[in-house]
Amino acid sequence: MDYSPIALLYQLQYENYADDLEFYTRLAQDYGGPVLELGAGTGRVARALARLGLEVWALEPAEEMRKLGARHTRDLKVKWLPGDMRRLELGRQFPLIIAPFNALMHLYTLEEQDQALQGIAAHLEKGGRFAFDLYNPAHIGPAGVLQHEGSYGPTQVFLYQEHHPIAQALLTHYLVDTTSPKGHLRRQHHTLTQRYYTRYELERWLRAFAFGYRLYGGFHKEPLLAESPVFVVEAWRS
Ligand SMILES: C[S@@+](CC[C@H](N)C(=O)[O-])C[C@H]1O[C@@H](n2cnc3c(N)ncnc32)[C@H](O)[C@@H]1O
Repeated sequence: MDYSPIALLYQLQYENYADDLEFYTRLAQDYGGPVLELGAGTGRVARALARLGLEVWALEPAEEMRKLGARHTRDLKVKWLPGDMRRLELGRQFPLIIAPFNALMHLYTLEEQDQALQGIAAHLEKGGRFAFDLYNPAHIGPAGVLQHEGSYGPTQVFLYQEHHPIAQALLTHYLVDTTSPKGHLRRQHHTLTQRYYTRYELERWLRAFAFGYRLYGGFHKEPLLAESPVFVVEAWRS
């Protein structure tokens, strides 16, 4: 899906999200650069890695996300690439490939998932790591319940979700209300579509492309439990 229409909203919501940064920066210190980030968004993680002095190749299809990302990483060694993880052709391999914060939830079909993992396998150096995190679907909340997500200056964000279990699809509807200095209220409606993974589906997928892996339930490598908020994966070509 195209993140351009929600680029500013995304930045407002997540620019301070940092739960995953230590996990990805440690990996980058261990495996070195250049690091390839798939779905690099507005540069939240790329910036943290580049501040370690590493080069980052930030693949991001949405133009507005790339523009914000380029601004956030202006003086750093971050190469922004318009591209799609379903069709990776970067002409080199990387010691570390990452897909932080649910980026792989934008692979909607088995074919798209397989195209992406095939490309990732081809772009990963032997002995290198592919690391990513995904939402644990055990935590999908009640559908249709309108929640106040946050206040960002003159902007209030509300959301509600739709869950389609047979398609493993989660639709998040954002209602973004902005009050102008004259008191006029403008409402925008955006929908984020994500396809979630079940635990063993994820393991089968990795095995199908001959990846070895460790699966954790948190960014401090906690064991995976039903209540774990995320699936955190470190994978390598076996
Ligand atoms: C939830 S954001 C994560 C952004 C960033 N990795 C972070 O941690 O803040 C998911 C990103 O994946 C990108 N994306 C969606 N489909 C993609 C695709 N087919 N290939 C590469 N990136 C994609 C979106 O444009 C969006 O920026």
